[in-house]
Amino acid sequence: MTTGSITAAAPVRFRHWIPPGVYRPQTDTGLLRRALRREPISGRTEVLDLGTGSGALAVEAARMGARVTAVDISWRALAAAWCNGLLNGQRVRVRHGDLASAVPGRRFDLVVTNPPYVPAPGGAPPRGSARAWDAGADGRLLIDRICAAAPTVLRPYGRLLMVHSHLSGVEETLARLRDGGLRAQVVERTRLPFGPVLRSRLGWLRERGLLAGRTNEELVVIRAEHA
Ligand SMILES: C[S@@+](CC[C@H](N)C(=O)[O-])C[C@H]1O[C@@H](n2cnc3c(N)ncnc32)[C@H](O)[C@@H]1O
Repeated sequence: MTTGSITAAAPVRFRHWIPPGVYRPQTDTGLLRRALRREPISGRTEVLDLGTGSGALAVEAARMGARVTAVDISWRALAAAWCNGLLNGQRVRVRHGDLASAVPGRRFDLVVTNPPYVPAPGGAPPRGSARAWDAGADGRLLIDRICAAAPTVLRPYGRLLMVHSHLSGVEETLARLRDGGLRAQVVERTRLPFGPVLRSRLGWLRERGLLAGRTNEELVVIRAEHA
């Protein structure tokens, strides 16, 4: 985690302020941003950023011309996202709450989300900074809820872009989205060395059979369209 400062972020380039405890844009953010930039967006496009963190993706969507609502469970993240909108000359509407319950009854043309997706030992709910990445024993605590909510949060022809690790089950996500009536496919993939969080629990991941012999992590972006 970073200390609060205004710097040029890598790999996502935007002027930002990231207070302690707020997720710093990383490879997953950058991969999702690449997919986001291919989406058709006009001034009437309503975008929802679920788990906005520093607001990197929300700001990007606003730069592309969308009307953006950014949701997070962390007040500190919302403060950062709102400030980072201002720093980049963009308006980001922020809403506090648990996933889509923060925007009751609303529907969107595009939902972008980089949810917590790292499998985590222990049954206790994550606390502090770990709330940004830990997601239960199979890493699917938030992913499954997003898959279930997608059909009602998306407008007809609306699209969902979600990034997560192969460790949390790519086929499972595709199947759940398809069961919900969405057309879903993987549109981005990248491999990267295990980061410090995964390295600290490699033994546990191996015991659970989640590594499947791999020596690196694969991140994917899944795109699902409301038919
Ligand atoms: C991996 S970070 C992603 C941040 C940012 N979107 C990015 O790509 O850099 C996940 C974010 O989801 C937020 N979050 C965790 N649980 C949530 C929930 N139940 N509802 C809304 N946001 C949540 C965390 O506070 C964190 O900011």
